[in-house]
Amino acid sequence: MATNVRALAARCCFAVVDKGRSLGDELPKAQAKIEGKDKGLLQELCYGVLRYLPALEYDLRQLMDKPLKGKQRVGHFLILVGIYQVKHTRIPDHAAVSETVAATKPLKCDFLRGLINGVLRNIQRNLAKENSAENTANLPDAIKYSHPSWFIKKLQSAYPEQWESILTANLERPPMWIRVNQQHHTLEQYLLLLQQADIEVELVDKKSSAIKLATALDVNKLPGFVDGWVSVQDGAAQQAATLLNSQAGDSVLDCCAAPGGKTCHILELTPELASMTAIDIEESRLLRVKENLTRLNLTAKVITADAASQDWWDGQLYDRILLDAPCSGTGVIRRHPDIKWLRKADDIEKLVVLQQQILKNIWSLLKPGGTLLYATCSILPEENSQQIQQFISENNNAKLVPTSDNTNDIGWQILPNEQSMDGFYYAKLEKQPA
Ligand SMILES: C[S@@+](CC[C@H](N)C(=O)[O-])C[C@H]1O[C@@H](n2cnc3c(N)ncnc32)[C@H](O)[C@@H]1O
Repeated sequence: MATNVRALAARCCFAVVDKGRSLGDELPKAQAKIEGKDKGLLQELCYGVLRYLPALEYDLRQLMDKPLKGKQRVGHFLILVGIYQVKHTRIPDHAAVSETVAATKPLKCDFLRGLINGVLRNIQRNLAKENSAENTANLPDAIKYSHPSWFIKKLQSAYPEQWESILTANLERPPMWIRVNQQHHTLEQYLLLLQQADIEVELVDKKSSAIKLATALDVNKLPGFVDGWVSVQDGAAQQAATLLNSQAGDSVLDCCAAPGGKTCHILELTPELASMTAIDIEESRLLRVKENLTRLNLTAKVITADAASQDWWDGQLYDRILLDAPCSGTGVIRRHPDIKWLRKADDIEKLVVLQQQILKNIWSLLKPGGTLLYATCSILPEENSQQIQQFISENNNAKLVPTSDNTNDIGWQILPNEQSMDGFYYAKLEKQPA
């Protein structure tokens, strides 16, 4: 079993890029094999390689004519792990090189020792620097910005002014945002607890009470985390409960609920709801909803169900519905860089159709006068403003309610790193009485 951190990183990147597996599944399994600080290093190496994959591969091509193939592919990713360390981390070069070479043993590719050593020494001696991806003008955008070409083209067409800043934001490390459980403390009280614990706050979003920390830290260091005083949730995701604006006595449906961040936030803000129903198609992901409800001491009806069907429905209409739709995830690439390599161009059309089906189905479960909040963590207009525009044009009982200061927009598109938040989209629809 490979317990060398670099070897594990190479295996994880191989599983994501070549085998199409999610880093969210692979990384925890690999982390379980190692201790303490090494878990963080492993995460850093995997995230780094997946963030800069095309640029790292470009650098490697400058030094190696033939790429490693077949059984040697894990070795290919090990070299990328090495180049990433030399170029993007503060790990001393000698340690980065020797530890990466040492990882050939658990990966059973000792024959690559000389090659890896040579490539990394070359990078280290700056011989490759002039030709490195960052320093070469006129390189294809896919290498310069380390994103797939199909995605860059879509962004160029949707955001002619902002596409470059979006791509650059996607390469950044995401900040840690927290959500104060207002059942326990007001925002001000919890800010004081953070101050007493010497935890530095960088930003507070007064509208949603979201707090951005100056540095990411272990959740167990947050005052009262185990007792449910606080949760980790991006500032953009924390807008959902405020926008839904549920009231005492409402029956609420969260129809793509796992892992339950928004379900719990709605319950924290409105504990006196008549009912909260949280459904998701993936039973295993609903376990996370149950864990979160338990930690926060909240209650909801949790049902494994397809939101595009009504098999599960008890016939009672809802006052408010949150549809946090399955989407491309293109707004959260800085948090999940594997999305760039797992998501394919033709997935988008299929997702748009699925979103349409769910939207149409759950609209019929909403009371006249009720509110539906449509949300995605996508920045592609076809999943967002175009989706909602089409829905409104086909449903004359659907009225768009403003969600941002810009009342002319169809919904609220948050771009990645705008006010330090993830890329997100919200549109609020009111059902007009017949
Ligand atoms: C963006 S995530 C939801 C995140 C969640 N709202 C939160 O804040 O923690 C989308 C969810 O939709 C679920 N999903 C996908 N297709 C579905 C369907 N047809 N019916 C119900 N849930 C579905 C996925 O399993 C996934 O958990």
